[in-house]
Amino acid sequence: MAVELTTKIIPASEIAAAEAARCLADGGLVAFPTETVYGLGADATHAEAIARLYRAKGRPSFNPLIAHVADLAGAERIARFDATARKLAEAFWPGPLTLVLPKTPRCPVADLATAGLDTVAVRMPAHPVARDILRALGRPIVAPSANRSGHVSPTTAAHVASDLDGRIDLIVDGGAVSVGVESTIVGCFDRPMLLRPGGLPRAAIEQVLGHPLRRPPPRPDAAGQPMAPGMLASHYAPRTLVRLDAARIEPGEALLAFGAVAIPGHDVAATILNLSERGDLTEAAANLFGHLRALDEARARAIAVMPVPEHDLGEAINDRLRRAAVPADPIHK
Ligand code: TXA
Ligand code: MG
Repeated sequence: MAVELTTKIIPASEIAAAEAARCLADGGLVAFPTETVYGLGADATHAEAIARLYRAKGRPSFNPLIAHVADLAGAERIARFDATARKLAEAFWPGPLTLVLPKTPRCPVADLATAGLDTVAVRMPAHPVARDILRALGRPIVAPSANRSGHVSPTTAAHVASDLDGRIDLIVDGGAVSVGVESTIVGCFDRPMLLRPGGLPRAAIEQVLGHPLRRPPPRPDAAGQPMAPGMLASHYAPRTLVRLDAARIEPGEALLAFGAVAIPGHDVAATILNLSERGDLTEAAANLFGHLRALDEARARAIAVMPVPEHDLGEAINDRLRRAAVPADPIHK
Protein backbone atom coordinates (compact mmCIF):
# COMPACT_ATOMS: atom_id res chain seq x y z
CA MET A 1 0.00 0.00 0.00
CA ALA A 2 1.38 3.41 -0.92
CA VAL A 3 2.16 5.65 2.05
CA GLU A 4 0.12 8.90 2.16
CA LEU A 5 2.44 11.90 2.08
CA THR A 6 1.62 15.34 3.45
CA THR A 7 4.31 17.25 1.57
CA LYS A 8 3.65 17.71 -2.15
CA ILE A 9 6.14 16.00 -4.51
CA ILE A 10 6.27 17.22 -8.12
CA PRO A 11 8.40 15.94 -11.00
CA ALA A 12 11.10 18.35 -12.18
CA SER A 13 10.10 20.62 -15.08
CA GLU A 14 10.16 24.30 -16.00
CA ILE A 15 6.73 24.70 -14.39
CA ALA A 16 7.97 22.94 -11.26
CA ALA A 17 10.95 25.34 -11.07
CA ALA A 18 8.58 28.32 -11.27
CA GLU A 19 6.36 26.83 -8.56
CA ALA A 20 9.41 26.14 -6.38
CA ALA A 21 10.63 29.73 -6.80
CA ARG A 22 7.19 31.14 -5.87
CA CYS A 23 7.09 28.96 -2.77
CA LEU A 24 10.64 30.05 -1.77
CA ALA A 25 9.80 33.74 -2.32
CA ASP A 26 6.83 33.29 0.04
CA GLY A 27 9.16 31.97 2.75
CA GLY A 28 8.53 28.29 1.98
CA LEU A 29 10.92 25.34 2.26
CA VAL A 30 11.58 23.41 -0.96
CA ALA A 31 13.72 20.29 -1.38
CA PHE A 32 15.39 19.88 -4.78
CA PRO A 33 18.18 17.81 -6.34
CA THR A 34 21.72 19.06 -6.73
CA GLU A 35 24.40 16.87 -8.32
CA THR A 36 25.78 15.95 -4.86
CA VAL A 37 22.73 15.29 -2.64
CA TYR A 38 19.19 16.71 -2.33
CA GLY A 39 19.17 20.14 -0.67
CA LEU A 40 16.48 21.76 1.48
CA GLY A 41 16.19 25.28 0.11
CA ALA A 42 15.08 28.55 1.65
CA ASP A 43 15.41 32.09 0.27
CA ALA A 44 18.81 33.15 1.65
CA THR A 45 17.57 36.69 2.29
CA HIS A 46 14.45 35.59 4.21
CA ALA A 47 15.34 35.29 7.93
CA GLU A 48 12.00 33.80 8.92
CA ALA A 49 12.22 31.08 6.28
CA ILE A 50 15.72 30.25 7.48
CA ALA A 51 14.51 29.97 11.08
CA ARG A 52 11.86 27.48 9.84
CA LEU A 53 14.54 25.59 7.93
CA TYR A 54 16.65 25.07 11.08
CA ARG A 55 13.52 23.88 12.91
CA ALA A 56 12.44 21.52 10.11
CA LYS A 57 15.85 19.83 10.08
CA GLY A 58 16.33 19.94 13.85
CA ARG A 59 19.65 21.59 13.09
CA PRO A 60 21.55 23.57 15.74
CA SER A 61 21.60 27.22 14.67
CA PHE A 62 25.37 27.51 15.24
CA ASN A 63 25.84 25.33 12.13
CA PRO A 64 25.86 27.73 9.15
CA LEU A 65 24.37 27.01 5.72
CA ILE A 66 25.71 27.05 2.17
CA ALA A 67 24.36 29.81 -0.09
CA HIS A 68 23.75 28.48 -3.60
CA VAL A 69 24.01 30.84 -6.56
CA ALA A 70 23.23 30.63 -10.28
CA ASP A 71 26.34 32.41 -11.55
CA LEU A 72 29.56 34.18 -10.63
CA ALA A 73 27.87 37.59 -10.53
CA GLY A 74 25.49 36.21 -7.91
CA ALA A 75 28.42 34.83 -5.92
CA GLU A 76 30.25 38.16 -6.02
CA ARG A 77 27.25 39.97 -4.55
CA ILE A 78 27.57 37.92 -1.38
CA ALA A 79 31.30 37.06 -1.09
CA ARG A 80 34.71 38.60 -1.73
CA PHE A 81 36.89 36.62 -4.11
CA ASP A 82 40.68 36.82 -4.01
CA ALA A 83 42.81 35.48 -6.87
CA THR A 84 42.86 31.93 -5.46
CA ALA A 85 39.10 31.80 -4.94
CA ARG A 86 38.55 33.07 -8.47
CA LYS A 87 40.88 30.44 -9.87
CA LEU A 88 39.01 27.66 -8.06
CA ALA A 89 35.61 29.02 -9.09
CA GLU A 90 36.71 29.26 -12.72
CA ALA A 91 38.10 25.72 -12.70
CA PHE A 92 35.28 23.93 -10.88
CA TRP A 93 32.01 25.90 -11.00
CA PRO A 94 29.34 24.89 -11.60
CA GLY A 95 30.13 21.73 -9.63
CA PRO A 96 30.58 20.01 -6.29
CA LEU A 97 32.87 22.62 -4.68
CA THR A 98 31.87 25.03 -1.88
CA LEU A 99 34.11 28.01 -1.10
CA VAL A 100 34.12 29.68 2.33
CA LEU A 101 34.85 33.36 1.69
CA PRO A 102 34.61 36.73 3.48
CA LYS A 103 31.14 38.27 3.21
CA THR A 104 30.74 41.43 1.16
CA PRO A 105 29.87 44.54 3.24
CA ARG A 106 26.25 44.51 2.05
CA CYS A 107 25.87 40.73 1.84
CA PRO A 108 22.13 40.05 1.48
CA VAL A 109 22.36 36.58 3.07
CA ALA A 110 20.55 36.62 6.44
CA ASP A 111 22.89 36.54 9.47
CA LEU A 112 21.02 33.52 10.80
CA ALA A 113 22.17 31.50 7.77
CA THR A 114 25.83 32.27 8.42
CA ALA A 115 25.51 31.74 12.20
CA GLY A 116 26.83 35.25 12.78
CA LEU A 117 30.20 34.50 11.09
CA ASP A 118 31.88 37.10 8.86
CA THR A 119 32.37 34.40 6.22
CA VAL A 120 29.84 32.74 3.94
CA ALA A 121 29.92 29.34 2.23
CA VAL A 122 29.08 29.68 -1.49
CA ARG A 123 28.40 27.06 -4.12
CA MET A 124 27.25 27.09 -7.73
CA PRO A 125 25.54 23.74 -8.32
CA ALA A 126 25.69 22.00 -11.70
CA HIS A 127 22.36 20.15 -11.51
CA PRO A 128 19.94 21.58 -14.10
CA VAL A 129 16.98 21.47 -11.67
CA ALA A 130 18.88 23.40 -8.99
CA ARG A 131 20.01 25.90 -11.62
CA ASP A 132 16.46 26.38 -13.00
CA ILE A 133 15.12 27.09 -9.50
CA LEU A 134 17.99 29.53 -8.73
CA ARG A 135 17.39 31.40 -11.97
CA ALA A 136 13.62 31.49 -11.42
CA LEU A 137 14.03 32.95 -7.91
CA GLY A 138 16.82 35.38 -8.87
CA ARG A 139 18.28 35.35 -5.36
CA PRO A 140 20.69 33.04 -3.51
CA ILE A 141 19.18 29.93 -1.91
CA VAL A 142 20.55 28.47 1.31
CA ALA A 143 20.34 24.69 1.17
CA PRO A 144 21.68 22.19 3.65
CA SER A 145 21.28 18.53 2.79
CA ALA A 146 17.55 17.68 2.96
CA ASN A 147 17.71 15.24 5.86
CA ARG A 148 16.89 15.46 9.56
CA SER A 149 20.02 16.73 11.29
CA GLY A 150 22.35 13.85 12.12
CA HIS A 151 20.80 11.51 9.53
CA VAL A 152 22.37 10.31 6.29
CA SER A 153 22.06 12.81 3.40
CA PRO A 154 19.31 12.06 0.81
CA THR A 155 20.17 11.02 -2.72
CA THR A 156 16.55 10.51 -3.89
CA ALA A 157 13.24 12.36 -3.39
CA ALA A 158 11.96 9.32 -1.44
CA HIS A 159 14.80 9.73 1.09
CA VAL A 160 13.80 13.39 1.53
CA ALA A 161 10.15 12.42 2.09
CA SER A 162 11.06 9.76 4.63
CA ASP A 163 12.99 12.32 6.73
CA LEU A 164 11.01 15.53 6.23
CA ASP A 165 7.46 14.71 5.12
CA GLY A 166 5.02 17.15 6.72
CA ARG A 167 7.83 19.49 7.84
CA ILE A 168 8.51 21.17 4.47
CA ASP A 169 6.34 22.63 1.71
CA LEU A 170 7.47 21.02 -1.54
CA ILE A 171 9.81 18.37 -2.96
CA VAL A 172 10.95 18.63 -6.59
CA ASP A 173 11.78 15.11 -7.79
CA GLY A 174 14.64 15.06 -10.29
CA GLY A 175 15.54 11.37 -9.85
CA ALA A 176 18.63 9.98 -8.16
CA VAL A 177 21.60 12.35 -7.90
CA SER A 178 24.85 11.58 -9.72
CA VAL A 179 27.68 12.33 -7.26
CA GLY A 180 26.17 11.00 -4.02
CA VAL A 181 28.39 12.71 -1.41
CA GLU A 182 28.21 16.38 -0.42
CA SER A 183 30.38 19.07 -1.97
CA THR A 184 34.03 19.50 -1.05
CA ILE A 185 34.41 22.59 1.17
CA VAL A 186 37.52 24.76 0.83
CA GLY A 187 38.12 27.68 3.19
CA CYS A 188 39.82 30.45 1.21
CA PHE A 189 41.86 31.82 4.11
CA ASP A 190 45.55 32.91 3.97
CA ARG A 191 46.19 29.54 2.45
CA PRO A 192 43.29 27.43 1.23
CA MET A 193 42.15 24.76 3.67
CA LEU A 194 40.18 21.56 3.06
CA LEU A 195 37.27 21.90 5.51
CA ARG A 196 35.30 18.89 4.25
CA PRO A 197 36.36 16.27 1.70
CA GLY A 198 33.53 15.73 -0.78
CA GLY A 199 32.41 15.21 -4.34
CA LEU A 200 35.37 17.01 -5.89
CA PRO A 201 38.56 15.02 -5.20
CA ARG A 202 41.31 16.85 -3.31
CA ALA A 203 43.88 15.98 -6.00
CA ALA A 204 41.95 17.92 -8.65
CA ILE A 205 41.94 21.04 -6.46
CA GLU A 206 45.62 20.72 -5.55
CA GLN A 207 46.51 20.39 -9.21
CA VAL A 208 44.86 23.74 -9.99
CA LEU A 209 46.39 25.39 -6.92
CA GLY A 210 49.83 23.95 -7.56
CA HIS A 211 50.27 23.10 -3.86
CA PRO A 212 48.66 20.92 -1.17
CA LEU A 213 45.54 22.07 0.69
CA ARG A 214 46.01 22.67 4.41
CA ARG A 215 44.12 20.42 6.82
CA PRO A 216 42.16 22.13 9.60
CA PRO A 217 43.38 21.77 13.18
CA PRO A 218 41.82 18.71 14.85
CA ARG A 219 40.30 20.78 17.70
CA PRO A 220 37.65 23.47 17.51
CA ASP A 221 39.07 26.98 17.16
CA ALA A 222 39.60 29.32 20.12
CA ALA A 223 35.96 30.45 20.08
CA GLY A 224 34.95 26.83 20.69
CA GLN A 225 33.38 26.54 17.22
CA PRO A 226 34.41 23.78 14.84
CA MET A 227 36.05 25.28 11.71
CA ALA A 228 33.25 23.74 9.65
CA PRO A 229 30.63 22.64 12.12
CA GLY A 230 29.79 19.71 9.83
CA MET A 231 33.13 18.28 10.93
CA LEU A 232 31.62 17.20 14.25
CA ALA A 233 32.74 13.62 14.83
CA SER A 234 29.27 12.10 14.66
CA HIS A 235 27.29 13.07 11.61
CA TYR A 236 25.49 11.15 8.92
CA ALA A 237 24.84 8.46 11.52
CA PRO A 238 22.49 5.51 10.90
CA ARG A 239 20.78 4.00 13.98
CA THR A 240 22.53 0.66 13.48
CA LEU A 241 26.09 0.34 14.78
CA VAL A 242 28.63 0.71 11.96
CA ARG A 243 31.83 -1.37 12.14
CA LEU A 244 34.63 -0.22 9.82
CA ASP A 245 37.45 -2.10 8.08
CA ALA A 246 35.70 -5.42 8.60
CA ALA A 247 37.97 -8.37 7.83
CA ARG A 248 35.25 -10.95 8.62
CA ILE A 249 31.48 -10.94 9.12
CA GLU A 250 29.96 -11.98 12.42
CA PRO A 251 26.61 -13.84 12.31
CA GLY A 252 23.65 -11.46 12.06
CA GLU A 253 25.67 -8.56 10.70
CA ALA A 254 24.81 -6.79 7.45
CA LEU A 255 27.66 -6.25 4.99
CA LEU A 256 28.46 -3.07 3.10
CA ALA A 257 30.89 -4.42 0.55
CA PHE A 258 33.34 -2.80 -1.85
CA GLY A 259 34.82 -4.73 -4.78
CA ALA A 260 34.97 -8.52 -4.81
CA VAL A 261 33.31 -10.03 -1.73
CA ALA A 262 35.85 -12.62 -0.59
CA ILE A 263 35.63 -11.89 3.10
CA PRO A 264 35.20 -14.71 5.67
CA GLY A 265 31.65 -15.05 6.97
CA HIS A 266 29.97 -13.24 4.08
CA ASP A 267 27.81 -16.30 3.51
CA VAL A 268 26.17 -15.74 6.94
CA ALA A 269 25.62 -11.99 6.48
CA ALA A 270 22.02 -10.89 7.11
CA THR A 271 22.09 -8.71 3.97
CA ILE A 272 24.82 -7.69 1.55
CA LEU A 273 24.91 -4.48 -0.48
CA ASN A 274 27.92 -3.66 -2.63
CA LEU A 275 29.08 -0.05 -3.12
CA SER A 276 30.75 -1.09 -6.36
CA GLU A 277 31.43 -4.65 -7.42
CA ARG A 278 34.04 -3.44 -9.90
CA GLY A 279 35.77 -1.36 -7.22
CA ASP A 280 34.89 1.99 -8.82
CA LEU A 281 35.00 4.88 -6.31
CA THR A 282 32.68 7.16 -8.30
CA GLU A 283 30.03 4.45 -8.39
CA ALA A 284 30.65 3.75 -4.69
CA ALA A 285 30.07 7.42 -3.75
CA ALA A 286 26.79 7.46 -5.69
CA ASN A 287 25.60 4.35 -3.81
CA LEU A 288 26.93 5.21 -0.34
CA PHE A 289 24.02 6.98 1.38
CA GLY A 290 21.27 4.90 -0.26
CA HIS A 291 22.99 1.67 0.79
CA LEU A 292 23.53 2.96 4.34
CA ARG A 293 19.83 3.83 4.59
CA ALA A 294 18.76 0.43 3.21
CA LEU A 295 21.08 -1.50 5.52
CA ASP A 296 19.94 0.60 8.49
CA GLU A 297 16.37 -0.48 7.72
CA ALA A 298 17.42 -4.15 7.68
CA ARG A 299 17.83 -3.86 11.48
CA ALA A 300 20.90 -6.10 11.58
CA ARG A 301 23.16 -6.41 14.69
CA ALA A 302 25.64 -4.12 13.01
CA ILE A 303 26.70 -2.92 9.57
CA ALA A 304 30.16 -4.28 8.80
CA VAL A 305 31.97 -2.20 6.19
CA MET A 306 34.78 -3.52 3.98
CA PRO A 307 37.81 -1.22 3.57
CA VAL A 308 37.56 1.45 0.85
CA PRO A 309 40.77 2.94 -0.62
CA GLU A 310 41.50 6.53 0.47
CA HIS A 311 42.28 8.08 -2.95
CA ASP A 312 39.98 10.20 -5.17
CA LEU A 313 36.35 10.03 -3.91
CA GLY A 314 37.53 7.45 -1.37
CA GLU A 315 38.61 10.30 0.94
CA ALA A 316 35.02 11.63 1.14
CA ILE A 317 33.54 8.11 1.35
CA ASN A 318 35.83 7.17 4.26
CA ASP A 319 35.16 10.52 5.97
CA ARG A 320 31.38 9.86 5.91
CA LEU A 321 31.85 6.23 6.97
CA ARG A 322 34.01 7.26 9.95
CA ARG A 323 31.33 9.72 11.07
CA ALA A 324 28.63 7.07 10.57
CA ALA A 325 30.62 4.80 12.89
CA VAL A 326 30.59 7.29 15.80
CA PRO A 327 27.39 6.98 17.85
CA ALA A 328 25.32 10.18 17.67
CA ASP A 329 25.96 12.77 20.38
CA PRO A 330 22.51 14.12 21.33
CA ILE A 331 23.86 17.68 21.72
CA HIS A 332 25.33 17.83 18.24
CA LYS A 333 22.74 15.85 16.28
O1 TXA B 1 26.73 19.22 -1.50
C1 TXA B 1 26.41 20.02 -0.64
O2 TXA B 1 27.22 20.83 -0.14
C2 TXA B 1 24.96 19.99 -0.14
C3 TXA B 1 24.06 20.42 -1.29
C4 TXA B 1 22.61 20.50 -0.90
O3 TXA B 1 24.52 21.63 -1.84
N1 TXA B 1 24.79 20.81 1.00
C5 TXA B 1 25.30 20.49 2.21
O4 TXA B 1 24.98 21.38 3.21
O5 TXA B 1 25.97 19.50 2.41
P1 TXA B 1 25.14 21.07 4.75
O6 TXA B 1 24.43 22.16 5.43
O7 TXA B 1 24.67 19.68 5.05
O8 TXA B 1 26.66 21.22 5.01
C6 TXA B 1 27.24 22.51 4.95
C7 TXA B 1 28.55 22.53 5.67
C8 TXA B 1 28.40 22.39 7.16
O9 TXA B 1 29.38 21.48 7.61
C9 TXA B 1 28.68 23.78 7.66
O10 TXA B 1 29.21 23.75 8.93
C10 TXA B 1 29.67 24.30 6.64
O11 TXA B 1 29.17 23.80 5.44
N2 TXA B 1 29.71 25.77 6.57
C11 TXA B 1 28.74 26.60 6.14
N3 TXA B 1 29.12 27.89 6.25
C12 TXA B 1 30.36 27.89 6.75
C13 TXA B 1 31.30 28.91 7.09
N4 TXA B 1 31.03 30.21 6.93
N5 TXA B 1 32.49 28.53 7.56
C14 TXA B 1 32.79 27.22 7.72
N6 TXA B 1 31.94 26.21 7.42
C15 TXA B 1 30.75 26.53 6.95
MG1 MG C 1 24.21 17.84 5.90
